[in-house]
Amino acid sequence: MSEPTTKLRIAVVGAGHLGQHHARIAATSPHAASVVVVEPAEERGREIAAKHGAEWAPNLASVLGRIDVVQIAAPTGFHLALGQEALQAGKHVLIEKPLAAGLAEGEALLQALAKARAAHPRLVAAVGHLERFNPAVVALRAANFKPRFVEAIRVSPFPMRSLEVDVVMDVMIHDLDLLLALVGRPVTDVEAFGVPVLTPHPDLVNARLKFEGGAFATVTASRVAQKKERTLRAFGDKAYAKLDFAAQKLELLRLVLGPNGPEVAPEVVDIEEGEPLKLEIEAFHAACRGQGDDVVTWAEGLEAMRVADLVQKAVARSLEELGAGR
Ligand SMILES: NC(=O)c1ccc[n+]([C@@H]2O[C@H](COP(=O)([O-])OP(=O)(O)OC[C@H]3O[C@@H](n4cnc5c(N)ncnc54)[C@H](O)[C@@H]3O)[C@@H](O)[C@H]2O)c1
Repeated sequence: MSEPTTKLRIAVVGAGHLGQHHARIAATSPHAASVVVVEPAEERGREIAAKHGAEWAPNLASVLGRIDVVQIAAPTGFHLALGQEALQAGKHVLIEKPLAAGLAEGEALLQALAKARAAHPRLVAAVGHLERFNPAVVALRAANFKPRFVEAIRVSPFPMRSLEVDVVMDVMIHDLDLLLALVGRPVTDVEAFGVPVLTPHPDLVNARLKFEGGAFATVTASRVAQKKERTLRAFGDKAYAKLDFAAQKLELLRLVLGPNGPEVAPEVVDIEEGEPLKLEIEAFHAACRGQGDDVVTWAEGLEAMRVADLVQKAVARSLEELGAGR
């Protein structure tokens, strides 16, 4: 394992749609000593490695002896095996979201982490919930705003990829993780509806969540929309927040005492724009170097998956009921 202030030798595993950005960001990091792109598809692996002045390797096993950090951006079905392999070798690991392909696999990763930490207590294990690093989200969390009701919408045109995972695990999980972080309480009740549109699985899902302590949320995720929209509106104690993830904008209104009595006034929020994935990877590298612990933990990644699983089950129940009524 690397010592706190040393530069990191980084392996980016998977050079597809997202992995190429991991490679770009790792290769331009001032804290990287070297970057190797691990990609079984040789042509793609060599192309992405060459583009960023990195080395290419066909598998993780062949590079484990000469790296400190593993960033896994392979398809979700490979997360468990690759994560276990990295942990057994005592490497810091960032796994893309969702943490694993199912709850049992997510739990197996946490068990592997506990075992690895017995030998390497400072091992960092993070999951790639990049919206937590969106500057507008960071500003909202810093604004002392406890939501009581949230409406989250995350819709986009049909992607033609990531179709092995449904829209709940692939798309809605971003907002489920954020809601858990914003509300800070567990989910106690889930109701959800979904419809298959272009695939045999639900492509559009709406879920209503109830949290311990009385907060509520309605969350919509779709991969069959005409236009992209990623927004969140939240109502708290005498406060309202409207967040646009893509524009990195946050509007915050609060009930304050003005010169003529109570009035609803906008609060100035300072937001310095930044690429969420880059900010997430920088925070992960800092943690690996012993500087900070600003990462989304695997336990949090698994909790988001648990709620996603409840949503999937509620959708399945509603579809069965609809089928029975036809
Ligand atoms: N954080 C986000 O917002 C976000 C966005 C997109 C994707 N993702 C996640 O990133 C992961 C990858 O998604 P993608 O869209 O980039 O997929 P992709 O299919 O575009 O790319 C995956 C790449 O991994 C390679 N690969 C396959 N098996 C491998 C193995 N055993 N070792 C190394 N590489 C292997 C494939 O050849 C491919 O090049 C998924 O878990 C997905 O959920 C996260």
